[in-house]
Amino acid sequence: MLPPLLQHTAMRTGSRAAGIVLLAVAGAAPPALAADTTPAQQLERFARLAGAAGQAERGRSFFTSRHGGDWSCASCHGNPPVAAGKHAGTGKTLEPLAPAANPRTFTDTARVDKWLRRNCNDVLRRDCTPAEKADLLAWLTSLQP
Ligand code: HEC
Repeated sequence: MLPPLLQHTAMRTGSRAAGIVLLAVAGAAPPALAADTTPAQQLERFARLAGAAGQAERGRSFFTSRHGGDWSCASCHGNPPVAAGKHAGTGKTLEPLAPAANPRTFTDTARVDKWLRRNCNDVLRRDCTPAEKADLLAWLTSLQP
């Protein structure tokens, strides 16, 4: 059985070659839960890169908007994301995204970067900017279960 990340990717690409490359990369990857950071440190990191503090209300609006495509962040993670989400493509259950409801989120820098890159591309067809990420973190860390 593939780890969720690889299942997700394999399903999305549908390409055997891509799956093989990903398996090779995964074999060299560090353990899934490095726990090298905290949600507060991630908020600070993105705010520093953006040169401005994150704004929670802007983050809420960003998270729940479709940005021209079929999906918003909330399509998979729910709104507000303080309970289990449901993948809009596969139906797979997702753990809550808000740190108050799931102490494992935003504790692994590489994991945060990997999923933001993938999810932002799914929703916006581009990377999210540091300012958008700071806004998202400001909102997500303000949520209570
Ligand atoms: C098509 C479904 C889908 C959409 C849309 C989506 N995500 Fe995700 N997201 C996932 C899945 C799947 C995971 C991995 C969850 C797991 O392994 O339990 C994930 C994980 C994450 C993580 C990693 C959290 C952590 O530290 O563990 C972040 C951050 C995240 N998503 C943010 C976003 C943001 C921001 C958006 C909107 C731009 C978004 N997601 C849209 C499916 C989605």
